[in-house]
Amino acid sequence: MIIILLGPPGAGKGTQAQRIESAKGLVQLSTGDMLRAAVAAKTEVGKKAKDFMDAGKLVTDEIVVGIIADRIEEEDCKNGFLLDGFPRTVQQAEALDNMLDQKNLRLDAVIEMQVDDEALVDRITGRYTCADCNQGYHDQNLKPKVGGVCDNCGSTNFKRRADDNRETVSARLEAYHAQTAPLLPYYEARGVLKKVDGMAGIDDVTAQISDVLSGLN
Ligand code: AP5
Ligand code: MG
Repeated sequence: MIIILLGPPGAGKGTQAQRIESAKGLVQLSTGDMLRAAVAAKTEVGKKAKDFMDAGKLVTDEIVVGIIADRIEEEDCKNGFLLDGFPRTVQQAEALDNMLDQKNLRLDAVIEMQVDDEALVDRITGRYTCADCNQGYHDQNLKPKVGGVCDNCGSTNFKRRADDNRETVSARLEAYHAQTAPLLPYYEARGVLKKVDGMAGIDDVTAQISDVLSGLN
């Protein structure tokens, strides 16, 4: 199964992708996570991506298409994958179509997570993750069961993203509306677009996505 999670910054793509990954065995491919790893490792890709990411702008199509093209060749993608944060431009969507055509694979669904812009700033500025296993949390909406200890791996190290500040969030939202929202009619025209109410609670959104996945052949 090949699924795209589409939605603005802070919509809950990463939160839901982690849940679907463990429930359905679909590997999460997050271009944001891959780029942050490249920035931290100071690779050539990371050096090229850093300034765009810090400014809340999209990294070039060439870079992210290259990352995904390599990643889907890996063994763990054989049973399907869940794209989180890719594609984000029509050019990226067309490149993905070509990659899937060449491998005789079919895109099963694009799940749009609908969230009001006003809710996104709070979600993003309150977000943090486990520094060791990347499990996501939020200051108010999703705290670890035991304060300061990761539910998933027991680590006590947590981190916040460099781009999770109010200024960068506005730029990221602008980029979403200008460059990524045109993907909605692109996928709607192909009959693969499914919408979920991303304003609902985290468990409710998971249930909505599970319903969508259960309805696919
Ligand atoms: P990326 O890492 O993809 O960031 P993003 O799209 O801005 O999305 P986020 O990761 O901020 O949000 P999310 O939807 O995953 O929300 P989350 O689940 O964490 O990209 C970062 C940068 O990399 C881009 O700006 C760009 O520069 C570059 N990039 C990446 N991909 C690219 C591409 N394809 N092309 C070009 N450039 C690219 O949830 C947020 C918070 O809210 C969490 O704390 C969570 O606990 C909480 N929360 C989640 N769901 C709910 C809920 N239902 N109710 C209440 N709280 C909730
Ligand atoms: Mg994310």
